[in-house]
Amino acid sequence: MAAQIASVTGAPHARVLGVGAYRPERIVPNADVIEAIDSSDEWIQQRSGIKSRRWAGPEESVQMMSVAASRLAIERSGLDAADIDCVVVATVSHLLQTPAVATAIAHELGTHAAAFDISAACSGFCHGISLASDFVRAGSARHVLVIGVERMTDILDLSDRGTAFIFGDGAGAAVVGPSDTPGIGPVVWGSDGEQFDLIRQREDWRDVVGTADSPGSGVMPHLVMEGNPVFRWASFAMAKIGTQALDKAGITLDDLDVFVPHQANMRIIDAMARSMKLPAHVRIARDVAEQGNTSAASVPLALERMMTEGDARSGDTALLIAFGAGLSYAAQVITVP
Ligand code: COA
Repeated sequence: MAAQIASVTGAPHARVLGVGAYRPERIVPNADVIEAIDSSDEWIQQRSGIKSRRWAGPEESVQMMSVAASRLAIERSGLDAADIDCVVVATVSHLLQTPAVATAIAHELGTHAAAFDISAACSGFCHGISLASDFVRAGSARHVLVIGVERMTDILDLSDRGTAFIFGDGAGAAVVGPSDTPGIGPVVWGSDGEQFDLIRQREDWRDVVGTADSPGSGVMPHLVMEGNPVFRWASFAMAKIGTQALDKAGITLDDLDVFVPHQANMRIIDAMARSMKLPAHVRIARDVAEQGNTSAASVPLALERMMTEGDARSGDTALLIAFGAGLSYAAQVITVP
């Protein structure tokens, strides 16, 4: 007979304990990006709702921004770094393929926590919240730090009309820990790999380097996107996912206080809100206007802004939904800490 292996169980429920953010110092208005892409402030605002974004300076690395956002999240959770026993970093713009930036972040924060990166592009933070909730409830970790961080400017071609005005840099972090009552609803997540090519790194590293017979491009493999199909997919398919997340959590539209969708484009946010028939009392995150699309950092940055500006209050019920390259998506209801 096989030896009996001991099993652990965790907390009855999980919740978000605190949220932190880091926004790079440099504010980049539309006026500063239009020349390279032959565009205008009016076009960008009309098509995307973006007025400005933040671009990281040389000192504002993925690690630096993550540590700053995390310190705030840990402090706001009433914890010390030593209390964190797992660090999950969602990012697509950490330029070292290995090791994970999460281990360096954990070290700088002062913990020997389990630490690893996940790659789910713009939806990575919501994937991370789901993992964290499961870890806490299964007993794999007690306090999980989930970070969404991007230095998109490292992987952008600033002369590409389809992407240069959209993306920005920044970091958001949340601590997930034990709770006596449910504070994170069931995740609704999935992927549509048939649309793998719609948003992606233009070429892989082998193509950049090349071979003796066929020289590589030698230039940074930047992000390319087919904006229009992504726009249509996000505006329609994602509203259904949001509604499913509410249903799974047993929440009606009347119970919902706050909607924090991925900050891709103001028109997508409005289309989703209409499609989901969100009542007027639901406060909607609109961080994209000042922050651009910060990929994995967008949901925590938007949530943090709402919390600090009083639009999301402790105890509020919030729907988070994020989607992007893959295509991949994840949504869940949380209680605002
Ligand atoms: N500045 C000015 N004009 C531009 C432009 C730019 N940066 N980019 C494209 N155009 C022009 C096109 O040439 C086209 O001109 P035409 O009508 O004379 O042919 C016109 O604007 C419309 O182009 P189109 O690509 O259809 O625009 P759009 O309405 O789809 O808006 C996006 C473009 C990128 C704003 C939009 O598709 C979008 O936001 N997509 C989702 C992107 C996103 O959020 N991705 C991340 C998801 S995680």
